[in-house]
Amino acid sequence: MSHVLITGGAGFIGSHLTQRLLLAGHRVRVLDNLDPYYEVGMKRANVAAAAATGGKLFEFVVGDIREAATCQHAVHDCDVVVHLAALAGVRASIQDPCRYIDVNVTGTQTLLSQIKDPRTVVVFGSSSSVYGGNRKVPFAESDAVDQPVSPYAASKKAGELLCYTWHHLHGNPVACLRFFTVYGPRQRPEMAIHQFARRITDGLEIPFFGDGTSRRDYTYVDDITSGILAAMHGKRPFAIYNLGGSAVTSLDELVGHLERALGRAAKRHRLPDQPGDVPITYADVSLAERELGYRCTTPLRVGIDTFCAWYLTEKRAGRVP
Ligand SMILES: NC(=O)c1ccc[n+]([C@@H]2O[C@H](COP(=O)([O-])OP(=O)(O)OC[C@H]3O[C@@H](n4cnc5c(N)ncnc54)[C@H](O)[C@@H]3O)[C@@H](O)[C@H]2O)c1
Repeated sequence: MSHVLITGGAGFIGSHLTQRLLLAGHRVRVLDNLDPYYEVGMKRANVAAAAATGGKLFEFVVGDIREAATCQHAVHDCDVVVHLAALAGVRASIQDPCRYIDVNVTGTQTLLSQIKDPRTVVVFGSSSSVYGGNRKVPFAESDAVDQPVSPYAASKKAGELLCYTWHHLHGNPVACLRFFTVYGPRQRPEMAIHQFARRITDGLEIPFFGDGTSRRDYTYVDDITSGILAAMHGKRPFAIYNLGGSAVTSLDELVGHLERALGRAAKRHRLPDQPGDVPITYADVSLAERELGYRCTTPLRVGIDTFCAWYLTEKRAGRVP
């Protein structure tokens, strides 16, 4: 049995990971400040579900990763720290870059600085956004990532660099995982899939940026948590891995999947491309496959059906906006 700290564990990905670890019999401590970037009620519900699953195996610490004393308390006794706490919106980061750097960069360093046991394994939640506007696809971990196009992307690249330096100085094993657009039940309400589902259901126009040909690599959340679990037991002292679906879907195709699953037609409101958006994300996952045994097992069609079933249930119950 491991004792795992999950920062950001009240959020979308963190809450799925928490449930999986608890069901496997591990002890989990979540550190999360319940940031109001989106509905805090959703985060409280995630924590309540974890408490119901985990009982005494689960502990929730409300606190901020920028506070050293809070981090010191949170990391004690933990064998593994999965660091997912962050401000995660690309567009919001353009509006408020200083806050993003404060949480995602200073917060990451503050957390790392409080880990004193050299055996503690760290898994850092990075992002495909570090690839910026790279045109060579699929994106491989060896590609240059020196030109992020949003403060959020820059903060994730900075987080990877801080992880490397900390590993170099202290010797702890670290895996940085670049997640490619993650979706599934509990997804953040401002993310495209969730936002589109809401607007299609409400009969509202969906903001359709660009000409519909921009393409994304979508990854179902259970595949991401499988990758995180594998990285907790990785063999390399320091590594960076892509975790993606390894397939690309255009915006047009994505909306088509949602229309089918929701049984309603979308009204597309065409808008120009947004600053910070990238034309394509596409993961080369061969390194994660070789070294972590990672496999993306959920096709988009199946994952979208599961997401929409969850969304409609939550919507009827008034638990999502
Ligand atoms: N969802 C995706 O598609 C995606 C893609 C790439 C990378 N990521 C990364 O994965 C991680 C989780 O993303 P998510 O989609 O679950 O987001 P999320 O917003 O649902 O979860 C992040 C959690 O961090 C918490 N948090 C924010 N600031 C904090 C602070 N100062 N102290 C403590 N907790 C704080 C929030 O309250 C939230 O519960 C993030 O690091 C994000 O950058 C997500």
